[in-house]
Amino acid sequence: MINFDNVSKVYPDGTVAVDGLTLQAPTGKLTILIGPSGCGKTTSMRMINRLIEPSSGVISLDGTDTQSLNRVDLRRRIGYVIQNAGLFPHRTIVDNVAAMPRLLGTPKREARANAMELLERVGLNEKFANRYPWQLSGGQQQRVGVARALATDPPFLLMDEPFSAVDPIVRAQLQEEFLRLQREIGKTIVMVTHDIDEALKLGDQVAVLREGGHLAQVASPAHLLAHPADAFVADFVGTARGYRALGFVTADGTLGVDREPTVRVGDDAATATVGADGWALAVDESNIPQGWVQLGRLNGAQITESDINISGTVAKEFGNLRDMLNSALSSPSGRGVVVDERGVLVGTVSAEAIVAAIRTAKQEVLAS
Ligand SMILES: Nc1ncnc2c1ncn2[C@@H]1O[C@H](COP(=O)(O)OP(=O)(O)OP(=O)(O)O)[C@@H](O)[C@H]1O
Ligand SMILES: [Mg+2]
Repeated sequence: MINFDNVSKVYPDGTVAVDGLTLQAPTGKLTILIGPSGCGKTTSMRMINRLIEPSSGVISLDGTDTQSLNRVDLRRRIGYVIQNAGLFPHRTIVDNVAAMPRLLGTPKREARANAMELLERVGLNEKFANRYPWQLSGGQQQRVGVARALATDPPFLLMDEPFSAVDPIVRAQLQEEFLRLQREIGKTIVMVTHDIDEALKLGDQVAVLREGGHLAQVASPAHLLAHPADAFVADFVGTARGYRALGFVTADGTLGVDREPTVRVGDDAATATVGADGWALAVDESNIPQGWVQLGRLNGAQITESDINISGTVAKEFGNLRDMLNSALSSPSGRGVVVDERGVLVGTVSAEAIVAAIRTAKQEVLAS
């Protein structure tokens, strides 16, 4: 656990960057720091590994005051990932990852072998190992940054906007991969982000800071959305908080999933079964949904790939109600497509059924 006990930072020019911060980052969990620019997120994070010294208060790691540790020992226990990866430009990727263990005395062969393994873990195969940072895309560099921070197998990880320098698609991919990795490694992580959706998606708990380094609220993502402590937090989690909150409500057995007749590419449109509205769901030979076909429009021809409308999304059977609603809203037929863990069709669900489930869930949340 990382513990902040009444920690403040006043810079020499008198700027109060952090003011009386008391906060716990629990072991094995991911704690997010979020708040407006200049509210003291980076300062708070850098005080943990003493890149910045607190003016007052105590920061401890698993009960040990960081001031009682020497900085080398301290930093050996804390991996650090910064924005834009911050790689050494004149070293190869594998040497970037192996640099810290080498510095701490790990023999070269061993350090490189470990580095190769870590690169594999963050999704980079050996062909990247001997390249230089400038020969990698932004997203690949971010992965190297994560591998490098993990190289000494530290129990603690600090990440300052680690995914911010990449486009939204790569970003979502890195977030998913990182969540998977964290499920395996279970590090105690403090991560700074500007992005509320990233905070809600990744955080076990989210700490919202306000100007002047004051903690406004710390809570789980679902709690933060349902019970913002004040107008500042409510505003910060955004006007879409009702919709975002649905991401934390799981669809249970009470959501009525209907059987849906299906068609396949090659079927004769004239004899195919079709819903009352003329839309039919196309599946492949494994019963995995491909999209919707408007049969009335085909004039009795055979169904081809190009007849399939792929605009609809699919939702997992026991997934969240936001994905369910999104599936219904994005579907040209108005019916949301529900699949099992393997992506195989379970059935469809109407927007009305989802809204009814949302009402029930809402009453349960309000009652709790
Ligand atoms: N070395 C310094 N000397 C004086 N003031 C500083 C120094 N470093 C940061 N500050 C100030 O301290 C406050 C907090 O800065 P910090 O970098 O922690 O903010 P942040 O929340 O990380 O912001 P951002 O979201 O823009 O990265 C800001 O007002 C900043 O201008
Ligand atoms: Mg910052």
